[in-house]
Amino acid sequence: MKVNISKVEPGQQMIAEWRGQPVFIVRRTPEILANLSKIEGQLSDPESKSSVQPTYVDPKNRSIKPEVLLLIGICTHLGCSPTFRPEVAPADLGKDWVGGYFCPCHGSHYDLAGRVYKSQPAPLNLPVPPHSYESDTIIVVGVDKEKA
Ligand code: FES
Repeated sequence: MKVNISKVEPGQQMIAEWRGQPVFIVRRTPEILANLSKIEGQLSDPESKSSVQPTYVDPKNRSIKPEVLLLIGICTHLGCSPTFRPEVAPADLGKDWVGGYFCPCHGSHYDLAGRVYKSQPAPLNLPVPPHSYESDTIIVVGVDKEKA
């Protein structure tokens, strides 16, 4: 499935659908990327050793290009769809919140690489789907970057 990401502004998300599942696509800013390394100590699987992602994505920022993140938008707890909460320190998520995903069903928190925080109901990071770039703005979801 081809997705045109040209209209996704920095710091914003679009949602595509692939095989009946939501795919979150986020254009990450330098600030978002800088925060990813600051919160590693608070995460359950910061290098995605147990989580589902293609081998060609970076294990920490979980993408091919750091500024563009793709995730399967299904919570690894019981399958709700987490909410995109990119704002820093909103009242309901607390002063330490640097942006991420919040699952409304049982309260799991993920960062803006889809990595789950420690002591959450969700056991694993949000999966990263197979994907590749046809051009700078066209992503092919479901087709691996490296073909066998
Ligand atoms: S389904 Fe997301 S926390 Fe339970």
